[in-house]
Amino acid sequence: MSAARPLLLVGGGGLAREVLAAVRLLPHLWRPVGALDDDSARHGADLDGLPVLGGTELAGSTDAAVVVCVANAHRPLGRLNLVARLGLTPDRWATVVHPAASVAVGAEVGPGTVLLAGAVVTAPLRLGAHVVAMPHVLITHDDEVGDGVTFAGRASLGGSVRVGEGAYLGQGSSVREGVSIGAGAVVGMGSVVLADVPAGEVWAGNPARRLREGSGS
Ligand SMILES: CC(C)(COP(=O)(O)OP(=O)(O)OC[C@H]1O[C@@H](n2cnc3c(N)ncnc32)[C@H](O)[C@@H]1OP(=O)(O)O)[C@@H](O)C(=O)NCCC(=O)NCCS
Repeated sequence: MSAARPLLLVGGGGLAREVLAAVRLLPHLWRPVGALDDDSARHGADLDGLPVLGGTELAGSTDAAVVVCVANAHRPLGRLNLVARLGLTPDRWATVVHPAASVAVGAEVGPGTVLLAGAVVTAPLRLGAHVVAMPHVLITHDDEVGDGVTFAGRASLGGSVRVGEGAYLGQGSSVREGVSIGAGAVVGMGSVVLADVPAGEVWAGNPARRLREGSGS
């Protein structure tokens, strides 16, 4: 008899497909049963063999574990807002660590967090809840990562970097040691961040400079 836990993926886009591919490598832990998406056009669709069952409200009517698989640089706080709206108890959130991720012994990975292939956490530290680290993200000694942070692929942090709740680090961005990224801030792809980024702002470039205020959502 399998002890694998039934799992619902929230979101019907590319990130959900990637998380699905990860959990399919962990059949002893997870048994994906469907995806939920508030876009009714996706209901009934096939997500790489997984049915899109309906809207996110269905998460409340089952005991399955749930992982939120949405990430958007234009709405960096979107995943945390969705988590709050779903209002599930902490034991319902699935933490998904791809077997090819490398997480230091003693590191704490929060509920609902996803680490995809090649993500590396080099030393014991705490990653918040509902963090998403896409492939080949690098998180190093003494970093502090708040809830709902998104790291697009190959984003990397030097040591002692603080990343506030719901910040979004674009693909291939790099953050100098000791720097702080404020809550809900966005760092553009390929950026090299040498100075603190205030909460809610959008920064990009090498060296990264302020592009504009964020959307606040
Ligand atoms: C930073 C970002 C959110 C800005 O998006 P946006 O508000 O739509 O910005 P625009 O594309 O309208 O660009 C606005 C200006 O910023 C510049 N810019 C945008 N992104 C930049 C980046 N990453 N690095 C340097 N400059 C950038 C543009 O060239 C443009 O400059 P201009 O006004 O002189 O022409 C977006 O470009 C980005 O990097 N998103 C993350 C992408 C990513 O990591 N995807 C992973 C998917 S899994």
